[in-house]
Amino acid sequence: MSTQTIDEAKVNAFVMNAVSELGATLNAALVVIGDRLGLYKAMAGAGALTPRELADRTQTNERYVREWLNAQAAGGYVTYADGRYTLPAEHAMALADENSPAFLPGAFQLMTAAVRDEPKIAEAFKSGAGVGWHQHSHDLFEGCERFFRPGYQHNLTQSWIPALDGVEDKLRLGARVADVGCGHGASTLIMADAYPASDFRGFDYHGESIAAATQKADQRAWFEVASAQDFPGKGYDLVTTFDCLHDMGDPVSAARHIREALADDGTWLLVEPFAGDTVEENLNPVGRVYYAVSTLVCTPASLSQEVGLALGAQAGEARLRDVVTAAGFTRMTRVAETPFNLVLEVRP
Ligand SMILES: C[S@@+](CC[C@H](N)C(=O)[O-])C[C@H]1O[C@@H](n2cnc3c(N)ncnc32)[C@H](O)[C@@H]1O
Repeated sequence: MSTQTIDEAKVNAFVMNAVSELGATLNAALVVIGDRLGLYKAMAGAGALTPRELADRTQTNERYVREWLNAQAAGGYVTYADGRYTLPAEHAMALADENSPAFLPGAFQLMTAAVRDEPKIAEAFKSGAGVGWHQHSHDLFEGCERFFRPGYQHNLTQSWIPALDGVEDKLRLGARVADVGCGHGASTLIMADAYPASDFRGFDYHGESIAAATQKADQRAWFEVASAQDFPGKGYDLVTTFDCLHDMGDPVSAARHIREALADDGTWLLVEPFAGDTVEENLNPVGRVYYAVSTLVCTPASLSQEVGLALGAQAGEARLRDVVTAAGFTRMTRVAETPFNLVLEVRP
C-alpha cells in the first residue's frame, strides 16, 4: 500500500481559500438583494451613510440593512468607518450604473438563478437527460440579458460591426438582419437603434423571452418564436448569433439553416463566449465562470434538444470552425475579442 505525505500547510491554504469562496457564494445573494432593493443605487454618490439612513432611503428594515452592510464591508464592496458605510465611486460604477461596461449585478442575477436549479442538474448528471433553457426561472433569462447587454452596448456598433467586411455600409443604407437566439433582444434593439434604415428580426425558440423582447421593441424590431434550425426568411444580409450557438442541440443544422437564409454575399456574425482551444488555456477566472455556467445551464440546454451536441460554453475557435465548415461555410475570421467574447465573421 502506498503512503502519501500530507503537507498540512497546503491543506490549510486550501481550506482558507475555500472560506473566501464560501463568503463569495453567499455574497452573490447579497448582491442580488442590493440590486433588487436599490441599496447600491441609493449609496452611489451619497457619501458615508448609517444603516438607518440607507434603510430610510430605500424603505427597508434597518436591522437587515445593517447586517447586509457589515457583510458588504467584510467583502470589500463598501468601506466602513465610525458607524458609516461608503460605496466607492469605482464600485458604484460596477454595482449601480446599469449602463456601465463594468455593470455586474446582471451577472449575479444569472449565476444565482443557475445555482438555484442545482438539484435538477444533479439529477441530470445521473440520467444524462437535458434541462432546457426554458426550464429555468425568470431570473436566469433576465439576468442573462443584463449580464451581456453592457458588453454589446459598448462593443457591438462601435467595433464589432465595423470590423466586418462591408457590413456597416449595408446597414446604414438599409439591410435585412436576423438575430437568432436573441433572448430578450438586447443585441437586436442596440443594432436597430444604430441603423434605423435596416430591418431587424429577432428569433428565439423560448416564448417567454420573445414576449419580453416584444414588449421593449416599440416597433424598432420584430420578434418571433422560431428555432435556429427553421427561422423564417431568406436573403438576409446579416445573421447574428450572440452567445447562443453552444446552447443549441444541433448547431450544425442551425449553421446550415443560417447559410441557406443568408444572401450569397451575406455575413454571419458569430459571437461566442471567449475561450482558448485547449482546457489548459481556459484554466483562469473567466474560464472558471464559463465552465461552471456551462455545467449548470449551457450543456444541459444543448442535451435537452435533438442531437445534443453539447459544444459547451468553452468550445473555442477551432471547434466552432468545425461546426461552420460542416454547414458549408468557407471562411471564418476572428475580427475582435473581449475578455468575455470571441467575435467571428463567417462567410459563405
Ligand atoms: C445564453 S442565451 C443568449 C441570449 C441572447 N442572444 C443574449 O445574448 O442575451 C441563449 C439563448 O439561446 C436560445 N436558444 C437555445 N436553443 C435555441 C434554438 N435551438 N433555437 C433558437 N434559440 C435557441 C435560448 O432560448 C436563449 O435565449
